[in-house]
Amino acid sequence: MGTVALRVADAAKTFHRDGASRAAFTNIDLEVREGEILALLGPSGCGKSTLLRAIAGIEPVSRGTITLHTDPVARGRTGIVFQDPLLLPWLTISENVALGLGYAANRRVGATETVEAILRDFGIDDLADAYPASLSGGQAQRVSLARTIVTHPRVLLLDEPFAALDPRTRAHLRDWVVDVVRRRHLTAVIVTHDIEEALVVGDRIALMSCQPGTITRIWSRGEGNATEVLAAYQSELPAPTWVI
Ligand SMILES: Nc1ncnc2c1ncn2[C@@H]1O[C@H](COP(=O)(O)OP(=O)(O)OP(=O)(O)O)[C@@H](O)[C@H]1O
Ligand SMILES: [Mg+2]
Repeated sequence: MGTVALRVADAAKTFHRDGASRAAFTNIDLEVREGEILALLGPSGCGKSTLLRAIAGIEPVSRGTITLHTDPVARGRTGIVFQDPLLLPWLTISENVALGLGYAANRRVGATETVEAILRDFGIDDLADAYPASLSGGQAQRVSLARTIVTHPRVLLLDEPFAALDPRTRAHLRDWVVDVVRRRHLTAVIVTHDIEEALVVGDRIALMSCQPGTITRIWSRGEGNATEVLAAYQSELPAPTWVI
């Protein structure tokens, strides 16, 4: 793995609503190296999405710093993919992906790959003229990733991108995303609730806890086995309540 691509130092985010303050996450220190895939695992509400949005620059942090260590031209280049593909239903697949090019142009990022080339690379060129309503969940998520990748992000942020898919499509898409990240020499942070997914995709796994939302453990590949990660994760989950 190369140099540090992303550094989060002493970061905290507090939301203020109706006169009350609530910390989404606090004391986050994290480094992700070039080419690495970091899986961010944690229970609901511990601040995973907020942290990802902060890394993407969508949400300002209340304290600390987030730095992308890329060359000056590429500075600030992150791309984010959400659980919902968020495709515009009145545009074709080509036009939806071309929207990414528009964002890139606005951010003065030199996009060198055409929409046709990326659709071909992603194996979805036959869908170019289709509309989102005719796509399966897995196809829609590929299009969503294509729309992000066409902007040439150096750090790819994925917020539970497979959560809405059936298990078979999910496993298939997961392997495909890892392949895209490796082939394109990207760095990625992927949020998941799924331990198997974290173990399969992550070069490292960072476990977040709630209250406060912070990172409590980091395992490198091969360091933590499934049982250990599962036990640590389960200890972070709220006790189940049964309604009979
Ligand atoms: N815009 C906002 N305004 C106020 N509070 C917010 C806002 N966004 C998130 N929060 C709060 O911050 C906390 C962390 O939310 P976040 O969505 O980051 O959690 P998460 O770990 O991604 O959860 P999940 O696994 O359910 O997606 C929650 O308590 C949430 O209610
Ligand atoms: Mg979330």
